Amino acid sequence: MATTGLVVDRGLEGVVVGSTLLSNVEGQIGRLTYRGYDIDDLAPNATFEEVTHLLLYGHLPTAEELESLKREIGARRMIPEPLINSMQRVPKTAWPMDVLRTVTSGLALFSPVNQRGEHVSDVHSAIELIAKMPTILAAWDRIRRGLEPIEPRTDLSHAANFLYMRTGKVPSDIEEDALDTYFVLLADHSYNASTFSARVTASTRSDIYAAITAALATLEGDLHGGAASAAFNTLLEVGTKDRAETYVREVLARGERIMGMGHREYKVRDPRARHLEAMAKQLSAYRGDSRWYDIARSLEDASNKVLQEEKPGKKIYANVDFYTAPVLADLAIAGDEFTCLFACARTAGWTAHVLEQLSDNRLIRPQATYVGPAPGPFVPISDRRAQAIGA
Ligand code: COA
Repeated sequence: MATTGLVVDRGLEGVVVGSTLLSNVEGQIGRLTYRGYDIDDLAPNATFEEVTHLLLYGHLPTAEELESLKREIGARRMIPEPLINSMQRVPKTAWPMDVLRTVTSGLALFSPVNQRGEHVSDVHSAIELIAKMPTILAAWDRIRRGLEPIEPRTDLSHAANFLYMRTGKVPSDIEEDALDTYFVLLADHSYNASTFSARVTASTRSDIYAAITAALATLEGDLHGGAASAAFNTLLEVGTKDRAETYVREVLARGERIMGMGHREYKVRDPRARHLEAMAKQLSAYRGDSRWYDIARSLEDASNKVLQEEKPGKKIYANVDFYTAPVLADLAIAGDEFTCLFACARTAGWTAHVLEQLSDNRLIRPQATYVGPAPGPFVPISDRRAQAIGA
């Protein structure tokens, strides 16, 4: 066995791989800021469009700047007809994240710049991706339900237009506000796995469509954005609030994890969970049905209690995906689309990170410590004997 070089922690835990001006996660105190603004201030006071401006342009917009960004987002919402047609031919059982990733990648086919084989990433292609992703998702939601997609409107906010494209009805202020706040809270999160993927891809001077496709692929896993959909399955499995503790004990006894609990960075409750919990409570009052909120609330209490008993000192608390589940369920969004909603919000952060990477780019190319056999002679095929795989 030959070994060379330095081995860093598994999963790069605690390893600083770059710098960013975009967002800061302070996991020990549970604070998240975008360019110095606390999400506790942004969530109740700023819209997703304002936060998108903050991330992409470096400052909160004036009223004129905001109008101009909203106009551009509105104008870029339509997706090319051939992509809608191709979605019509996809099996209705396809997983929504697979559809979103594939069709988002397909947007590059229609970019004149890409058609020339050039790899250009600018703020307008960033806005294009932010604007179009909800249209893809809403179209897929309708197509798989056997309905015709509804064209986006240019006069509605990002959140309201998404809900409108699903039902054809302009949502109430409470529904619009809940989804808008969700988008604000999930817009960026420093060098998480999907953002890092986007930056690695961009660092090769690939383009923004490729970088965002890579980010979508990375987000999908259960240990990252896939947990949002998995957390909703948990609410379904728990079924009623009085079954929460039994459920948690059963899951841990099987050696499995409680979805929506735990975080690599936060060692306290995720600061986004508080806002989402408040939204979930508000939405359930608005709907006159608190089933999802009640189950989530008792599941969090039960998880905190049982995890402290079973894994003392591990600091496993509710993360952003935990209360995403009741919020999105109360907005009548299907559980298997939750990760896609996460992607729609995070595209603001992903694209800003791609532009930041390219503003001072160096190829991201780490090393690995080789732990395989020492160099030896080549064995001709006639001399090889069957061996166990990996031996
Ligand atoms: N339920 C039960 N146990 C959990 C847990 C959870 N949700 N999250 C972490 N743990 C336990 C692990 O089993 C491990 O215990 P052990 O040391 O006794 O084996 C310990 O906590 C550390 O876990 P580890 O996987 O090393 O931590 P990490 O930093 O890699 O974990 C996550 C971060 C997010 C991957 C992890 O908390 C998790 O899998 N959560 C559930 C999925 C989820 O909600 N993901 C979305 C994140 S925003």
